[in-house]
Amino acid sequence: MNLLFVSDHAGFLLRRALVCALLHAHPEWTLQEEGATHAQDRCEYPMLVIPAMQAVRTKGIVAVLICGSGLGMSMMANRFQGIRAALCHDVTTARLARAHNDANILVLGGRLMGDTLALDCLNTFLSTPFEGGRHLARIQALDAYQDRK
Ligand code: RB5
Repeated sequence: MNLLFVSDHAGFLLRRALVCALLHAHPEWTLQEEGATHAQDRCEYPMLVIPAMQAVRTKGIVAVLICGSGLGMSMMANRFQGIRAALCHDVTTARLARAHNDANILVLGGRLMGDTLALDCLNTFLSTPFEGGRHLARIQALDAYQDRK
């Protein structure tokens, strides 16, 4: 598994907690981190998202984006063609994001959830396959649409 974790200062602590937990559970995984190096290092979340989306599209990496609420990073990520970023608050949204929406980015709110719930969301996201079927045409419509204004 090759995962890229990106956080601003508000997501720094959760990013570190998740990476530490995964390093312990899956030492064979490749985990990359981008963004704030301390919780005090203020940074602008839109600018952090841009290189991460390019890595997801060109290298097939799964990205986990973490800002304070998860809102700003999910808004930015979903501006990129082919990206389906899902802001998840619980295991159910994490499961549905994969099963129904074929999400390729997990977004978490670092100031809104505890480490254990976030890890459960991430594990659910990584282990749930896309159901396809009736959801496939909807995903294709999402990816095909581009507002021209
Ligand atoms: C940073 O203070 C905060 O605004 C940011 O992390 C995020 O929550 C924005 O949506």
